[in-house]
Amino acid sequence: MKVIQASDYQEMSQKAAKYVIKNVRRQPDIILGLATGSTPKGLYKQLIADHSQNGTTYEHVSSINLDEYIGLPAHDPNSYHSFMDEQLFQHINIQPHNRHLPNGETDRIEQECMHYEALIDAKGIDLQILGIGENGHIGFNEPGTSFASQTHVTTLSESTRQANARFFDSIHSVPKQAITMGIASIMKSRKILLLASGPKKANAIRRLLDGDIKESFPASILNHHPHVILLADNEALSAA
Ligand code: GLP
Repeated sequence: MKVIQASDYQEMSQKAAKYVIKNVRRQPDIILGLATGSTPKGLYKQLIADHSQNGTTYEHVSSINLDEYIGLPAHDPNSYHSFMDEQLFQHINIQPHNRHLPNGETDRIEQECMHYEALIDAKGIDLQILGIGENGHIGFNEPGTSFASQTHVTTLSESTRQANARFFDSIHSVPKQAITMGIASIMKSRKILLLASGPKKANAIRRLLDGDIKESFPASILNHHPHVILLADNEALSAA
């Protein structure tokens, strides 16, 4: 794993954007794996600024998101569909038919998981953007998830629901389940850019860099991937 240090959130976001833009320009039909959460917001902001100032085009780019809550309508302000629309999609020229997120509203959830995994296999993710949970989760793959897992339904841990409660009225409104790419699905990506910022992530980053690979700490599998960049700020690296 290559580690790149940034002084703060702003610099992390700028460096991440520079890397993503370089890849998009080199491969105009790139398949991007996208993440939600607070961490990539600054990256998306920089991509939007670059799109309007320098004209980087997303006309032929496709995106495949990591996860979506189960039970929230796509138009709910807290759905990851809404997040992606607001934070990125409506500000760049990525075509609606090229944007993919799991459907968390369907009754045929098992079929949706199989369909999503088939999409990942058919397209192939060139560059996956990842954040990390305080407990080491990636996507919504909580501690204990099999490293062999493909897209599946997951029950969110109490700590993940609490960490995400800040976006909702109260913890009671945070969905209990989600559809997420599995760990094996994420590992199929050709390249991975893992972002981490702030003191709350310091412990997770220390555990990641310890290199002890075990299912109780999902992100540890990334030590086995041939092309991962960890781009983290000073605070996130403060315990490493
Ligand atoms: C959520 C998302 C993850 C994200 C994590 C960290 O649980 N499903 O993809 O990496 O939170 O979020 P944040 O970046 O807000 O710390």
